[in-house]
Amino acid sequence: MKRLAIFASGAGSNAKRLIDYFSGNQTISVALLISNRKEAGALEIARKAGITAINFSKEEFYNSSTVIEKLTSEKIDFIVLAGFLIKVPDNILKAYENKIINIHPALLPDFGGKGMYGLNVHKAVIESGKKESGITIHLVNEHYDEGRILFQAKCSVLENDTPEKLAARVQELEHQHFPEVVEHFISEKL
Ligand code: GRF
Repeated sequence: MKRLAIFASGAGSNAKRLIDYFSGNQTISVALLISNRKEAGALEIARKAGITAINFSKEEFYNSSTVIEKLTSEKIDFIVLAGFLIKVPDNILKAYENKIINIHPALLPDFGGKGMYGLNVHKAVIESGKKESGITIHLVNEHYDEGRILFQAKCSVLENDTPEKLAARVQELEHQHFPEVVEHFISEKL
């Protein structure tokens, strides 16, 4: 059994998709959900599904070994970032090299990097005049949004799009593809 930890800062709709998808799976289980925001909806979603869900402060992430100790004691094999809005600390990046997967709501390498999250991304895409956006699922390294790309899917940017409308279209793609891409990546490593 491969054990996943989901890191999430927000509402947790992707976390929910992952939890539902892997529930009852014979080889992959979501064993832990970690957040940097105690009000993150993702924590509640995980708890309702009977998954250990913990909020850690920024201080605990960056200036202690509390988080890595938890990952180790829970025997976590892979980490999935599902709307995790702070940088993964170096000690975790080192311990989980090529084992951390992120989803980004645009077609990297465009519209990535610091500050490119949430509606900022969709605003930037619309302002650029691009006709397509989409999702990128990629491995995480020490540079924001620059790890190896595992998968991309595209959607149109429409004439009268608002950042909110485009976000909804992109999020549909996320929900549709994220769990399967995670499963595929992990299955290749088994
Ligand atoms: C997603 O759009 C993801 O790409 C981005 O943050 C959002 C998280 O949404 N990085 P949710 O918390 O999964 O609903």
